Amino acid sequence: MTPARCGVIGHPVGHSRSPEIHRAFAEQSDIALEYELIDAAPDAFAARVRKFFAGAGKGLNVTVPHKAAAFELADEADGDARRSGAANTLTRLANGRIRADNTDGTGLVHDLIQNRGFPLTDRRILVVGAGGAAAGIIPALLDAAPSELALCNRTPARAETLARHLDDRRLNLLQSRAPDDIRSYDLVINATSASLRDERPDLPSTTIGSETLAYDLVYSGRPTPFMKWASDLGANSADGWGMLVEQAAESFCLWHGIRPHTGSVQRRTWPEIVGTH
Ligand code: ATR
Repeated sequence: MTPARCGVIGHPVGHSRSPEIHRAFAEQSDIALEYELIDAAPDAFAARVRKFFAGAGKGLNVTVPHKAAAFELADEADGDARRSGAANTLTRLANGRIRADNTDGTGLVHDLIQNRGFPLTDRRILVVGAGGAAAGIIPALLDAAPSELALCNRTPARAETLARHLDDRRLNLLQSRAPDDIRSYDLVINATSASLRDERPDLPSTTIGSETLAYDLVYSGRPTPFMKWASDLGANSADGWGMLVEQAAESFCLWHGIRPHTGSVQRRTWPEIVGTH
């Protein structure tokens, strides 16, 4: 059987765990898969993607900094990609057109509800950050019917721009830092890139309560500064590894028609986080 040709494209991309995740899914599903890492600078992105699909490539995961460009390049897009203006998955359809999907939000919601038993309906959620990561998850979070979805960002103008783009009256735009007297949230999501530099966003401690789940979209083998800060305030915390595996499973399903079991991949790859599930 000719292997399905898939890959991940980013810049840089060497750190990506997607190849091992997709290869494990393929093994489990008995699918012959060739999965490659493609490093492309922004000015080479579009040409590299077209070359990949012209060469019988089937699907690409798209990572930083190309998610907005991936959405722009595609011939058609799913609802979450359209709403967020960003795509993390590109697929060559049978008619040769390129389709964009955004599975980041669905992956996050799946990790929260199915893996962690953390329902979102009627919960109060705070999303911190207003870059591509925040844009990618907000549509799926809104669809999960929380009682409140608040957004704040260090640079307020950027949060305003994102809120305008998302154009959803259910989104509650806060001041840059979130007010000090705010009630604690059920879920606080760090969608900033601060953890990548071993920093954390400046938030009032009142956003965190003993029932809060503090979820960092960045995955890390050890607690990020945001997770440590929230744990010290009595909250439960999680990093983004679960979301990474679940968004990969959604992409895998789009390409191969099978949603793989994710539990064994989560455990096999990062045994040290099993205790948090
Ligand atoms: P991504 O695509 O990963 O979201 P991005 O578009 O560069 O990356 O956005 C990074 C986000 O992290 C922004 O919301 C940024 O805040 P600003 O808009 O104020 O720059 C946020 N961010 C990064 N480092 C941060 C820090 N130390 N504290 C607070 N927010 C931070």
